[in-house]
Amino acid sequence: MTDNRPIGVFDSGIGGLTVLREIWNSVPDESTIYFGDNSRAPYGTKSRSTVIRYSLQNLRFLETKDVKMIVIACNTASAYAYEELKKRADVPVVEVVTPGADVACRSTRNGKIGIIATKGTISTGVYKKAVEKRAEELGMNDIGIFQQACPLFVSLAEEGWWDKEVTRLTAEEYLKPLKEAGVDTLVMACTHYPLLSGVIKEVMGDNVVLVNTGEATAQVVKDLLRYEGTASEGNSHPVREFYTSDEPELFEQVAAPFLGEGLPSGTKHFTTDKYEVSI
Ligand code: DGL
Repeated sequence: MTDNRPIGVFDSGIGGLTVLREIWNSVPDESTIYFGDNSRAPYGTKSRSTVIRYSLQNLRFLETKDVKMIVIACNTASAYAYEELKKRADVPVVEVVTPGADVACRSTRNGKIGIIATKGTISTGVYKKAVEKRAEELGMNDIGIFQQACPLFVSLAEEGWWDKEVTRLTAEEYLKPLKEAGVDTLVMACTHYPLLSGVIKEVMGDNVVLVNTGEATAQVVKDLLRYEGTASEGNSHPVREFYTSDEPELFEQVAAPFLGEGLPSGTKHFTTDKYEVSI
């Protein structure tokens, strides 16, 4: 059986493209529809109720596209809104927190795990709980979790300043407590951070494992498609559509370095704020 319906992916803006890229790598035959809520980004500084409302509206939009699965390619939306989306969606919903927590637990050697994310994600404590839960399942004792919000990283990534001195200095400042704590594994729990992984690696040192939650999530997508029997097999022309709630041209300019190969193209404009949702 083959199911050629697309996978719906959404993020507050362009950061989720780092997850989308990993999904393409992991399941290249799958069609995808990406929605970037650029006009309402960032989510990382918004309240819980706002992020839940935005996420439910994005879900409604993707459901109109007859998607077979929804991927919340945003850590903040995953942290705040996953439970609500899971309850209300007609199709399976994948979030980015649990896969990252799993990889972190399996990567650490000294049990000291760092988590860097937006202020919103850190304030929910969702990542910390997910790592603790996974560690317990794996029978790991003495886990130390060290969290750090790195809000400026989002702007630096969007600016394309992936390898600038200002980025290095900012990273040194944010990451200092995690280095001092001796973490050997660092979860990049924000979609934008993998773009700064060169600088983050330089600051943390070669012995620290950086966890890219997009990669871990793409594996979950692959496994779930198989499990549900909804994989699209032998589809040599997967469709890759893009929508943004801001200017398509601007979206494509900022998004291009995330995806390469002349993508994204043909981006359409759509705002999801017209959907009435109750929370
Ligand atoms: N996509 C967000 C996340 O992963 C980062 C950008 C934002 O704050 O909207 O948390």
